[in-house]
Amino acid sequence: MVSRVTTVAFEGVYALPVDVQVQVGPGMVAFTIVGLPDKAVGESRERVRSALHASGLALPAKRVTVNLAPADLPKEGSHYDLPIALGVMAAIGAIPADLLNDYAVLGELGLDGRLAPVAGVLPAAIGANTLGKGLICPSESGSEAAWADPEMDILAPNSLIQLANHFKGTQVLSRPNAKLQPAPSSLPDLADIKGQESAKRALEIAAAGGHNLLFCGPPGAGKSMLASRLPSILPPLQPRELLDVSMIASLAGTLAEGRLSDRRPFRAPHHSASMAALVGGGLRAKPGEVSLAHNGVLFLDELPEFNPQVLDSLRQPLETGEAVIARANHRVTYPARFQLIAAMNPCRCGYAGAPGHQCRRGDRCASDYQARVSGPFLDRIDLRIEVPAVTAADLIGASNGEASEVVAKRVARAREIQRERYAALGTPTQTNALAPPNMVESLVKVDAKNMSFLQDAANALALSARGYHRVMKLARTLADLDGLETVQKVHLAEALSYRGRSILAHAA
Ligand SMILES: Nc1ncnc2c1ncn2[C@@H]1O[C@H](COP(=O)(O)OP(=O)(O)OP(=O)(O)O)[C@@H](O)[C@H]1O
Ligand SMILES: [Mg+2]
Repeated sequence: MVSRVTTVAFEGVYALPVDVQVQVGPGMVAFTIVGLPDKAVGESRERVRSALHASGLALPAKRVTVNLAPADLPKEGSHYDLPIALGVMAAIGAIPADLLNDYAVLGELGLDGRLAPVAGVLPAAIGANTLGKGLICPSESGSEAAWADPEMDILAPNSLIQLANHFKGTQVLSRPNAKLQPAPSSLPDLADIKGQESAKRALEIAAAGGHNLLFCGPPGAGKSMLASRLPSILPPLQPRELLDVSMIASLAGTLAEGRLSDRRPFRAPHHSASMAALVGGGLRAKPGEVSLAHNGVLFLDELPEFNPQVLDSLRQPLETGEAVIARANHRVTYPARFQLIAAMNPCRCGYAGAPGHQCRRGDRCASDYQARVSGPFLDRIDLRIEVPAVTAADLIGASNGEASEVVAKRVARAREIQRERYAALGTPTQTNALAPPNMVESLVKVDAKNMSFLQDAANALALSARGYHRVMKLARTLADLDGLETVQKVHLAEALSYRGRSILAHAA
């Protein structure tokens, strides 16, 4: 007799159904798994054997064959343990086979029969729900699965015995509850930063419209400090964004205790990060930092210290909002719509352009250092702002800067205006930075006089088509921050000023 259990294989954030077929039949005593299993799936044989033994069930002295269908889809990960074990239990009559038909199953087994949490429970639950099935998963991942649908049937046992008892009716498992991580009690606050008014303004604009931003300045000016204050002024995730972000976090196995968080992701990878770490890939084509920063922020501190090739690999996700990982036999796509915040020194010694400073290597100090960031990469950054050193006069005395709470309210208002605008236009876009190019002209509605001003400035600054569109979108955000329907000359001028800065003359 062949028993069947449904489980999933992951392709990007999608869960594809996999049929686990188990046959216990006559022949030489053996336990074989076929259907393109990777090493972790192959090893599940030993875990299943021990877990069944620990649960008081011995494998029969027969030939056990497990087929993971479709046979040409690679099966990766340790979550196949539980469906295989349940398939074997059904095949030997330890649990009723028909009860398993209503569920998709995933989980890793310990040798003692306990269930260990696995990555990807949320996308698996969403996939199972679309198939019209419930989900059986480890207890620690139960609250994650509960987010898929409030009506969905979810069983989250902590051991194989507990699940067998549930099916027998001797111990009923209750449905786990969807949990949200409590908001962090204190985030670093903008009020800590003294001076740097224009940099704070740039940070507010970037937060309001989701624009990319680059801080450039001497060491110790507060660039890293400014960037780390961004989470405190960003609005929480919208419910739809929350699920998208959490699916990726679930696949990466970073959801603590299966709780979802409505904070926007803020990822700050070290500059030694590899291309696979940033864009995704490696073993099992895991999502990279760009995908983990989806709907949030990717902060690249000390930008020129990153490998130039690694930086250029971000050009495609920055434009398309997706990271495509090509592998030998298939390709995986993860969403990667992030806001880029970067910080850098103007040169290797750090002080090029500072009054009275002369780099020992002359102009080459700045040009060589800045050339590590390519022109096309820089073209994707809307706001480039100089962060000069703070003076002693700025530092001494109490901070009179605004608290993050006040700035966050203005940002939230501007985001609300954008959300309403794009909802009325019927696009899924949420921020000005993501507005499609064909909409830009109608969004900005520049009158004839301002249009000639914009044209002159675009010619003088030699703006690319992308640069031109990005300036318009930035101007739209500035008008939204002012609560104005039409974009005025002052908004265009300010938007242009962020692009026209000469700080990166060498790289641009
Ligand atoms: N504007 C500021 N207001 C208050 N403290 C500041 C300011 N700027 C810098 N500091 C102090 O200096 C420390 C270093 O700042 P930060 O790390 O942000 O510098 P940085 O500009 O990133 O320098 P680097 O280029 O070397 O990375 C901060 O932890 C803070 O104590
Ligand atoms: Mg720094």
